Amino acid sequence: MKPDYSVRQSRTEPASAAAQRQDAGETRACRQAVARGDYKNWMPKGMIWSFLGGAIGCGIVAVVLNALLNGTLKTVLTIVFAALAVIFCGMTIWAALMHRAFSYDGKRQMSRQIIEGTAAHVKLPAGGKCLDVGCGSGALAIAVAKRNPQAQVVSIDRWGKEYASFSKQLCEDNARAEGVKNTSFRQGDATHLDFPDGTFDAVVSNYVYHNIPGDRQQYLLETLRTLKKGGTFALHDIFSQSKYGDMQAFTQRLKDMGYRKVALIDTTDGKYMTKFEATWMGLSGSALLTGIK
Ligand SMILES: C[S@@+](CC[C@H](N)C(=O)[O-])C[C@H]1O[C@@H](n2cnc3c(N)ncnc32)[C@H](O)[C@@H]1O
Repeated sequence: MKPDYSVRQSRTEPASAAAQRQDAGETRACRQAVARGDYKNWMPKGMIWSFLGGAIGCGIVAVVLNALLNGTLKTVLTIVFAALAVIFCGMTIWAALMHRAFSYDGKRQMSRQIIEGTAAHVKLPAGGKCLDVGCGSGALAIAVAKRNPQAQVVSIDRWGKEYASFSKQLCEDNARAEGVKNTSFRQGDATHLDFPDGTFDAVVSNYVYHNIPGDRQQYLLETLRTLKKGGTFALHDIFSQSKYGDMQAFTQRLKDMGYRKVALIDTTDGKYMTKFEATWMGLSGSALLTGIK
C-alpha cells in the first residue's frame, strides 16, 4: 500500500466510522513504515521559544516602564514595548503553526510530502550515483536511497548554526534507523562543490539555495556542473523573482545549453502545498526544477 501524501485539506472523508478507523490505522502504519528517522523540523522549536521569550520580555519591560516613568516618555516607551510584545506574540503563533504543518509526526506532514514528491523524480541506474545538496537531516537523500537501493546517494551540507539541529551524525543515525546502507554524508559548500564535472547520474536538493545570499542561478549551475550528460535533476526551492531573478529565462538558458525536458513545476498548486499554505508560510514561488542534462 502506498502512503497518502496528498494535501490533507482536499481529502474526502471516509463514509463510515469503520472506514475512518481503518483509514487512521493504515495511515499510522504507513507513517511508521516510511519514517523511523528523526528528521527534525524546518521550523526549529528553539525559534518558537525565542519569539515567545521576546514577547514575554517586551511585555514585562512595557509594564515596568509604565510603572516607573511619567509623562510623554512613559507613554511613548510603553506603547513601543507593548507593540513589540504583540508583534513577538504574532511571530510565536506563526512559527508554532509552521512547525505543526512541517512536522513529520503531525496531521499535515508537509515536509514528508515535499521530500517524497521530489525523490519520486529520481530513477537511478544500478551502480548509479546521486548527489543531495544541502541534505540537512538526510530526509531527501534517504528517500532517494530507499527508492534506488541499487545506487549510491552522496550528500553534502555545511551544517551551519542557522539549522543547529541538523548534523552529519543525525544524517548517519537516520540512515541507520531507516535501515538504509547506500548513503554517505559529508561537510560541503553548495556554492563550490568538491566534485569533478559530470560525477553524478542525478542531483537533488530541497529548500537550500534560497538560504544562501548571492547569485542563486549560479549555484544551480554549480550543482548541474556535477551532473553527467543524460543525468536527471530535481531541485525544489522558492524560485521567486526576488530570490532568483528570471527563472523562465534560466530554464530557456538550460534548454539552449542542450538540457532536455526542462520544466519549472509549480508545487504550490496542491502538488506539495496549497496556494494558501504557500502564502502564509512564506513559501510562495516554491517549484521543482526538473529535467535531463
Ligand atoms: C531548510 S534546510 C533543508 C534541509 C534538507 N534539504 C531537507 O529538505 O530537509 C536548508 C539546509 O541548507 C543547508 N545549507 C545552507 N547553506 C548551505 C551551503 N552554502 N552549502 C551547503 N548547505 C547549505 C543548511 O545547513 C540546511 O541544512
